[in-house]
Amino acid sequence: MIHSSSNLHKSARKTPHPLIAPHGGTLVHRELTGLEKQAALDEAAGMAKIELTDWSYSDLELISTGAFSPLTGFMGQTDYESVLEKLHLATGEVWSIPITLPIEEKTANALKPGQKAALVSGEGVIRGILEVTEVFSVDKRREAQAVYGTTDENHPGVAKLYQRPGFCAAGPVWLLNRKAPPQFGEFYLDPSEVRAEFQHLGWRTVVGFQTRNPVHRAHEYIQKSALETVDGLLLNPLVGETKSDDIPADVRMQSYQVLLEHYYPKDRVLLAVYPAAMRYAGPREAVLHALVRKNFGCSHFIVGRDHAGVGNYYGPYDSQRIFEQFSQDELGIQLLFFENSFYCDKCDGMASEKTCPHGEEDRHSLSGTKVRQILRAGQLPSPKLTRPEVAQVLVDGLAEVISSNR
Ligand code: ADX
Repeated sequence: MIHSSSNLHKSARKTPHPLIAPHGGTLVHRELTGLEKQAALDEAAGMAKIELTDWSYSDLELISTGAFSPLTGFMGQTDYESVLEKLHLATGEVWSIPITLPIEEKTANALKPGQKAALVSGEGVIRGILEVTEVFSVDKRREAQAVYGTTDENHPGVAKLYQRPGFCAAGPVWLLNRKAPPQFGEFYLDPSEVRAEFQHLGWRTVVGFQTRNPVHRAHEYIQKSALETVDGLLLNPLVGETKSDDIPADVRMQSYQVLLEHYYPKDRVLLAVYPAAMRYAGPREAVLHALVRKNFGCSHFIVGRDHAGVGNYYGPYDSQRIFEQFSQDELGIQLLFFENSFYCDKCDGMASEKTCPHGEEDRHSLSGTKVRQILRAGQLPSPKLTRPEVAQVLVDGLAEVISSNR
């Protein structure tokens, strides 16, 4: 298997370099193992239960592994308000999206601060413990407007928010039982493991790349433009909950591997997943994405055109402009902004408005939506949009998905 940890180790240099500090200074670790875990599980069996959706489970895991550092639990009202109003936690760190644990009204009525609750997934397994500090209710329309910039229920993130109960339980968490990765287990690396890989490789500067799509030529172009100036690339696809017309994560994972195998130097890229739910919150999610990659040890993060956007809810560069309100000091991670990239026939390659003097008629515009439309129509995207090996994986993968859904 290419790009697995063992191969990366082989090309490792000896002396580890210090990496960027996690957000807030310390990488949070809230997973219990061994005897501590067993004791906690025994205790949890007698606790009140909170049922976790897949989304809340993934937030629990991301908090506990440190991907959401400095969060140590689900947010209480003070942080929630501070994030909505000021894009900072009450403790002062930049934070853009509330990480809350929605609970049903009857659970909210029964829970008391000071109590512990067992966090149980849909399979009936105790996944963790919440040390309840508070229960509060939220105004969903206000949250929608603040986080998503709209109250329109056609926005997929807003729709999800409206479906959730309007109460939240807050407090520090402990992770006890992880879900096994559905597939591609070797690409599920915690932030501490990703950091260790970077150090083994001797990478001082690493650019993080978020995607929820198959990697098309524009993605490849901006990744490689960044790679010209940094030591390594963390290709960090989001594989948690996405909207139903996005390409399934398992098909995407195959497409990333085939792309890396044919078009990237093996010792310059680490492929590891980001097991979070996609919010489609555009600018605010771009900030969250950057902070999470900082926690993974990336010194740089790419924000291109309409990062984390959906439909026409955000302007093409809103997700870049949001960063203007933060100082470099408080962000820590260095942002790399890219303009809309396209294939130009006259340039005979990838370019952007910054580098190409030709007209619209020579340009092949590129987006995940466009590639998905071509694939859903049963066509093979042109090599100007997607590498042929990738296109084939996507066509085969989607044919399988469609036939298994029949
Ligand atoms: S996202 O929702 O995960 O941001 P996507 O996977 O399409 O969506 O994008 C991954 C990254 O590539 C984002 O930073 C996005 O802004 C950037 N990007 C996507 N397409 C282009 C393009 N044609 N030109 C420049 N940047 C792009």
